[in-house]
Amino acid sequence: MVSQIALCGQQLKQNVWLGTARAFIIILEEHAVLSPIINCFLDSQYYAKGDLVAAAAYVCLEAASQGLGSCIIGLYDRKKICELLHIPVEKQFGSVIALGYPSNDIIRPKKRKAFEDIVRFV
Ligand SMILES: Cc1cc2nc3c(=O)[nH]c(=O)nc-3n(C[C@H](O)[C@H](O)[C@H](O)COP(=O)(O)O)c2cc1C
Repeated sequence: MVSQIALCGQQLKQNVWLGTARAFIIILEEHAVLSPIINCFLDSQYYAKGDLVAAAAYVCLEAASQGLGSCIIGLYDRKKICELLHIPVEKQFGSVIALGYPSNDIIRPKKRKAFEDIVRFV
């Protein structure tokens, strides 16, 4: 199954490395039940996307703390994954996270925007 999920993330010849993943975590959006007061102002799924992103970040942090490698995958064949895992096709995905064992301990150089370019104090 893991190798079949990997193929779902390799469409358009992207993510060629995905075949080395040992497991996947797929985060699905559930229907939120908000309090009636909040529901008057917001669509019931208003917070859902943010919650899913936060969950994905914590999965990656926990993976790292257990010595695992992780990668959030945004490019994947959602319909095929639904078919493989018997997920209703109308279900919204938060993210697909690949997990595996890093081949070494080297942390590659990161390309990051400068702190002052992304943070503004007011
Ligand atoms: C929503 C989302 C989708 C992503 N999709 C992919 C992807 O399909 N393939 C990939 O190699 N990296 C993808 N990435 C990037 C990696 O998950 C990771 O964030 C990036 O490599 C930065 O890692 P670093 O913090 O170690 O530099 C995605 C990231 C996000 C947030």
